[in-house]
Amino acid sequence: MKFFIDTANLDEIREAYELGVLDGVTTNPSLMAKGGISGDEKVKAHYKSICDIVDDKVSAEVIATDFEGMVKEGLALAKIDDKIVVKIPIIRDGLKALKYFHSEGIRTNCTLIFSAGQALLAAKAGASYVSPFIGRLDDISYDGMELIAQIVHIYQNYNYETEVLAASVRHSMHLLKCAEVGADVVTCPLKVITGLLKHPLTDSGLATFLADHAKAAGK
Ligand code: E4P
Repeated sequence: MKFFIDTANLDEIREAYELGVLDGVTTNPSLMAKGGISGDEKVKAHYKSICDIVDDKVSAEVIATDFEGMVKEGLALAKIDDKIVVKIPIIRDGLKALKYFHSEGIRTNCTLIFSAGQALLAAKAGASYVSPFIGRLDDISYDGMELIAQIVHIYQNYNYETEVLAASVRHSMHLLKCAEVGADVVTCPLKVITGLLKHPLTDSGLATFLADHAKAAGK
């Protein structure tokens, strides 16, 4: 399973990369705005800074919602660095844009997926990744994890190459459940990844080992 970090914050991306388990980064316009990153040149420079930290797969989202606009923006984003994956919303013109980028050999991440039907369309259009949003579904009493399992199952039925990138992951149990149902990737805040490290028996066990060692050494 691949781990992506869902942030535009360079310090957080660096910290995650240094952990040695990071496979990529996702951003969205809200995360960029939260980081105070706006304006064409600043946005591009920021994506370049992210690409300089990680090994591959940096999702950069288009703002346009028409085919021509998405193609223009996506091509400009893809030019920033080979690590860029163009993020496209699952709307009618988005489907056409996915097909276009697939034919050009440019990787895409189809975002704002809330149903299996949307995920099926995105795979048929040649998306490299689909991003179903777990947390936002859970927030309105729909089962986000059930959607991940459904998409994994459908893609396996037809050997689609599109990878299931579970997004809107809010806590470590979301991540673990995604691993159980076979999601290819999760994208989440750093604390969700570091949450996997935590266990009280690890902490108490380590404290005992260190105390025993100090006692034996006569400290
Ligand atoms: C990532 O690609 C998504 O934009 C992100 O995971 C959405 O997460 P949120 O629902 O916590 O905003």
